[in-house]
Amino acid sequence: MPYKLLFVCLGNICRSPAAENIMNHLIEQAGLSDKIVCDSAGTSSYHTGDPPDRRMTAAAASKLGIKLRGCARQFTKADFEEFDLILAMDRENFANICYLDPTGSYQHKVRLMCDFCTRHSLKEVPDPYYGGVEGFNQVLDLLMDACEGLLGYVLNEITYPSH
Ligand code: 4NP
Repeated sequence: MPYKLLFVCLGNICRSPAAENIMNHLIEQAGLSDKIVCDSAGTSSYHTGDPPDRRMTAAAASKLGIKLRGCARQFTKADFEEFDLILAMDRENFANICYLDPTGSYQHKVRLMCDFCTRHSLKEVPDPYYGGVEGFNQVLDLLMDACEGLLGYVLNEITYPSH
């Protein structure tokens, strides 16, 4: 069984699809596609069915050469069972995910994405939706840092499982 990662933001059109596609890029580069799989979701249903935001898509293409694939969906309670690790982009997303797990049974699976950063000190991935191009580029910088750290963490989990 592959290790399953779920990236979660608010709309599932900017931050979490970028995280999912960057992580897939790193997983493919490392030859681990059969061991780690990724998906993404939004805490809201605002953009259900939509492709990734065109500004995020343009930034990922020009800055990283990565094509963003995906179709927005809303996070559901079933995701707690389905995934091994759920990465929230900010504290509000984190709180909204935990709200769907009132007994805290799955709390050990939920983490803030920036916990895996090693070069940046920001604790949340800022919502770029109402800002300019720089915000999208900053999100990509943070996500690349976090995804690299996350790959190391998951490799360790696969090798020495803790749960
Ligand atoms: P995301 O960005 O959570 O990174 O996908 C947003 C997308 C849409 C909205 C807010 C943030 N919105 O308010 O529609």
